[in-house]
Amino acid sequence: MKAVYVLRCNGGLADLRTSLSYAINSALSSLIRLVPRIIDFHLLAGLSRFSTYSGYERYAKKQVFTVYYELPNSQARQQPPVNFLTITEQLSYENAPLIVVKPPGPKSQELLAEQSRLETQSAYYNKAFPFAIDSAKGSTIRDVDGNLFIDWISGMCVLNLGHNNPAVVAAVRSQEEKVWHTLETPTSVRIEFLKQIHSVLPGALKGAAKALFTVTGGDACEAAVGLARYVTKRSTIIAFQGSYHGGNQGIVSSTSNKKLLGMSGTLRQGVFHLPFPYSYRFPFPVEKKGDETKVLLEYLEGLLQDPHSGLDEPAGIIVEPIQCEGGYIIPPSDFLPGLREIADKHQIPLIADEVQTGFGRTGKFWASELTNTTPDIMCISKAMGGGIPVSMIAYRQEYDKSLPEMFRVGTYRANALALAAGAASIEYIKKENLLERAQTLGRKTKSAFERIADSSNIIGDVRGVGFMIGMELVESKETKKPAPEKTMKLRRYMFENGLLMQGCGHFGNVMRFMAPLTISESLLERGLEIFERGVKVVTGP
Ligand SMILES: Cc1ncc(COP(=O)(O)O)c(C=O)c1O
Repeated sequence: MKAVYVLRCNGGLADLRTSLSYAINSALSSLIRLVPRIIDFHLLAGLSRFSTYSGYERYAKKQVFTVYYELPNSQARQQPPVNFLTITEQLSYENAPLIVVKPPGPKSQELLAEQSRLETQSAYYNKAFPFAIDSAKGSTIRDVDGNLFIDWISGMCVLNLGHNNPAVVAAVRSQEEKVWHTLETPTSVRIEFLKQIHSVLPGALKGAAKALFTVTGGDACEAAVGLARYVTKRSTIIAFQGSYHGGNQGIVSSTSNKKLLGMSGTLRQGVFHLPFPYSYRFPFPVEKKGDETKVLLEYLEGLLQDPHSGLDEPAGIIVEPIQCEGGYIIPPSDFLPGLREIADKHQIPLIADEVQTGFGRTGKFWASELTNTTPDIMCISKAMGGGIPVSMIAYRQEYDKSLPEMFRVGTYRANALALAAGAASIEYIKKENLLERAQTLGRKTKSAFERIADSSNIIGDVRGVGFMIGMELVESKETKKPAPEKTMKLRRYMFENGLLMQGCGHFGNVMRFMAPLTISESLLERGLEIFERGVKVVTGP
């Protein structure tokens, strides 16, 4: 008996191609697991059927294609035919969003109450999104009350490949049986990860950088700053207004948020904050949009040359190639290369904090690559471990020569499960062409947000690249007055209607799109509909 599988495609031609290869691969791998040999696997009339149906015209009209193919007999195939959706659809719960009870439903409320009884009241996300999670799949989350949400948060850009990506799960499972925790002793998974990460490092770092493992994004940034200080024997770090590099006592000085610093109980130490080229709210007059770089870099050059500027000899410049928590701010394209030039001229290590922008988020593997800039030190975390905490810095080899043993200490230096997830994630991004997907779909999504913004007076600015898109909410386009309450109201509306979206920005008035790079086009469209409705509701009559 042969089981017939159905592959349904409603994306573009590329999606169909990827879907086919994904379907074949997943079928093959499940066969390998269930029956040791693969016999007689073949595609039936699928492709020819596809070609008779196909044509770009029909694609443009969103024709749904059905491709049939057969798999050989096996006990495992006794199950009813599986409906293979597009590569991306099959990764998620199919019918999201689905609100069966207004969140938080009764079961969620019970768990939330227990949590607040037992856990710190300073926790944040349980208040921003008051529900309890049962499970998650791809770009969707199921709560304990049976509601299904579309996830445009990706665990804050940790789940670039979506929840429980099968390739990542398989890699973690296979490592799980071997070893988890090895301190700094090599394992094959550690070496495999190092080789994989080298294969994607930018410019001169590729194949030549040294890696130092840490645990969180903040740790990585702190290690980067520490390294820059150590090799230059200086202490002042240049950072930017609106920056976020972490909340630990050391790195919190580089983070610009005053409230965080205040709560940390430390004084800001050894950091000089410059304005970021934030076109929508730039503090200095410029002739036209884009001139911010020139103004800023001339200012910085002046500071460096003026013995009375108050800026001491810098140990490093730490910068997010795209500002993240600060409001998804894309600097003009000459900004990072200009900083690179100044850093070279004055021999200041340039640190790129790619904690949130890395691993394909922007449609390039690293946001620094958008402007062909190679940093001296790069901070990497979040999507690196696919949800298992791990981070690292990659830095110029010559910095390594002076480093003493135990320069950075810690028990957790690259958990083996996290590295298995990381290596599998890099492979998956390459194999599934996720960078191209993030570029193409990102452009499409940004256009959709721009269209919504055009017909609304409360979205003052839409900016973004790849799957990092920010919408800045204002009281009106004329006043540009930040509208944090409206932003929170919009977030709540979307949450109650099954779409998870998080804010950011200097004034908490930027909604950001950071869906998994694997999200299906249909989930994207459904999410956009909710967003558009929400904007209308929040705008009012
Ligand atoms: C750009 C950037 N750097 C550093 C961090 C800190 O990472 P972690 O929260 O893992 O310490 C974050 C976290 O959001 C971030 O976005």
